[in-house]
Amino acid sequence: MVENRERHSLSEVEVDLLAVRQKRDLSCFDLVSISQLKNRDLELIFEVARAFRDYKTYKFSFNKGFSQINAFFEPSTRTMASFDLAAKQLSMDTTSVSSSSSVSKGESFLDTVETLDSYNVKTMIIRSAESGVPEMAAKHTQASIINAGDGWHEHPTQALLDALTILDYFGGKSLRGKTVTIVGDIMHSRVFGSLVRILKKLGADVRIAAPLTLIPKSVEKFGVKWFGDIEAAIKDVDVIYALRIQSERGASGFIPTLREYSKMFGISRKRLDLAKPSAILMHPGPVIRDIDVHSALAALDPQSFILKQVENGMAVRKALLWLLADRLDGKVKEFRRL
Ligand code: NCD
Repeated sequence: MVENRERHSLSEVEVDLLAVRQKRDLSCFDLVSISQLKNRDLELIFEVARAFRDYKTYKFSFNKGFSQINAFFEPSTRTMASFDLAAKQLSMDTTSVSSSSSVSKGESFLDTVETLDSYNVKTMIIRSAESGVPEMAAKHTQASIINAGDGWHEHPTQALLDALTILDYFGGKSLRGKTVTIVGDIMHSRVFGSLVRILKKLGADVRIAAPLTLIPKSVEKFGVKWFGDIEAAIKDVDVIYALRIQSERGASGFIPTLREYSKMFGISRKRLDLAKPSAILMHPGPVIRDIDVHSALAALDPQSFILKQVENGMAVRKALLWLLADRLDGKVKEFRRL
């Protein structure tokens, strides 16, 4: 295949980025789950993301001649906008398909993904209401598949940006000695699925706080401690991470009412003050104000790192698109039809 990759001289900024990367590659071709990433992959992603963050919207030529499809079969604001902007800031061409694609006419995910792969795209970003779509797609495409959130399963780039945010705030390369409390809809949350994996990899102590009805049995395998009492769960912790109740996944059937859930588990000023004075409040967004988090804390409180998370999302996704696009020649191609 002839690709539109012109030779060009690198700018000073690009030379800086290459120096940070030091010819390192990721150990995977796709990103479906945090479990695929080794500690050295995490270090590489974080170092490159920090460097990209320093250059904000600078237009890099690294991925020039490469294309990206954003296949979002479920609503998205942050993830979709940042993946698209990140690709463009790496000089990629991008296009999007949504829930109004042919999947809604009855086409299978596999046929849809193979169709999109025929455009010779380098990266395909997939979000779906069903778990397992990105994993299946990764086995049938030349493109690198990045999971942008699949059903109740995982949302790995959210976890990467969250870990970067926490590491940068506390300093250092690990989270040993830090306690993070994740509050909310543990059962239906793909954000939880990826976050707990990365936090454990980085050595953090993880607590979960939610009504028992929102705790899946399988949570024990992660080595987290469950609290049914929010005050006890957040006492003296370093990070409070609030999750939205996933009503679209049937979560309202697991709580009395949203208002009553909020009384029991919503994060208010008084509750935030139970954590360490240095503690930060995080949330993947979208925040449902006065349910997950009290409105006054949501964006502007100095302890709220919600917008910092959003900013880091851009840097992490740019790092990943650069690192993965270079790996493609090695991707094992299995053009098998299911
Ligand atoms: C999350 C998602 O889609 O899983 N949003 C996001 O990507 N930041 C969280 C949510 O919808 O509650």
